[in-house]
Amino acid sequence: MPVKTQYLDATSDGIAAAAVILRAGGLVGFPTETVYGLGADARNDHAVARIFEAKGRPHFNPLIVHVPDLATAQTYAVFNDQALALAAAFWPGPLTLVLPLRGDAGLSPLVTAGLETVAIRIPAHATARALLQALGGPLAAPSANPSGRISPTRADHVLTGLAGRIEAVVDGGPCSVGVESTIVGLDGPPQLLRPGGIPQEALEAALGAPLAIGGDANKPNAPGQLASHYAPNARVRLNVTIPHADEVWVGYGPDCPAAALTLSATGDLVQAAAALFHMLRRADDLAGQGAIAFAPIPETGLGRAINDRLRRAAAPRP
Ligand code: TXA
Ligand code: MG
Repeated sequence: MPVKTQYLDATSDGIAAAAVILRAGGLVGFPTETVYGLGADARNDHAVARIFEAKGRPHFNPLIVHVPDLATAQTYAVFNDQALALAAAFWPGPLTLVLPLRGDAGLSPLVTAGLETVAIRIPAHATARALLQALGGPLAAPSANPSGRISPTRADHVLTGLAGRIEAVVDGGPCSVGVESTIVGLDGPPQLLRPGGIPQEALEAALGAPLAIGGDANKPNAPGQLASHYAPNARVRLNVTIPHADEVWVGYGPDCPAAALTLSATGDLVQAAAALFHMLRRADDLAGQGAIAFAPIPETGLGRAINDRLRRAAAPRP
């Protein structure tokens, strides 16, 4: 469904209008000092699902949660001394910390891709900060480009890639850093997960210790890792049109009236993506010693990301 993308100035009126759109579950491109982000309210499953739809992302990889200050960050993630040291040295700024997710965080599980960690950052850009204040909540935001394309550093780049797919873009001028934030994993020994706006040497100086070079942050879901992290206890069968007696059937679309649960009774892929992680948990609770059977999901648009996730949930366990 194409939407008309509003172009908003980075004035207090423009920012207020952007916050209204975000509160209503809309998508807004906004400037940060690194690149433009594609923002959605990180607590709103449906809004976060639409990020993946708008970008055409084939996988639900985890997103960075942007917050205005450390106190807010601490309501979502657990900070150890090393995390506090890096936050004090580099926030606000182009640094993202991957930290243990708090149980009471209240973020959409789509933001963390069902992981028990969350990537969090306090941006320095005045417009991003004003938008976070106006929203009064956490903004999930990947770079505001179609999947696999170049990250945008100007509002017109965002429009070129995403006009008609997002509600608005706020024009805060060109980004000063121009590369994405550095990502440091601190859920174990400090690891550099993605090089970016803060150099490794500066991080090591602040930590007083060398950083291990971690895996590719673009692939935290390297085979097995994410799957085993989020696999339900019950076995999972896919593309099921006739479930077995001991299976909890999770339907999709109007052809599964007998299903115990449904990802979307109307066959709406955005609704299905928004419901996916919740339904995996509920089906797991209901399944007991039995199994879970998912109805077929079309392999188009967001359906590709849903099916990717389901194949991981159904994969043989390590
Ligand atoms: O500069 C930036 O970081 C920009 C601006 C908009 O803030 N955002 C950005 O987001 O680059 P994105 O979605 O393009 O990259 C997020 C990266 C991905 O590589 C993702 O795998 C990683 O963060 N990530 C997010 N949560 C993670 C987690 N819990 N564990 C490991 N990696 C994570
Ligand atoms: Mg990106």
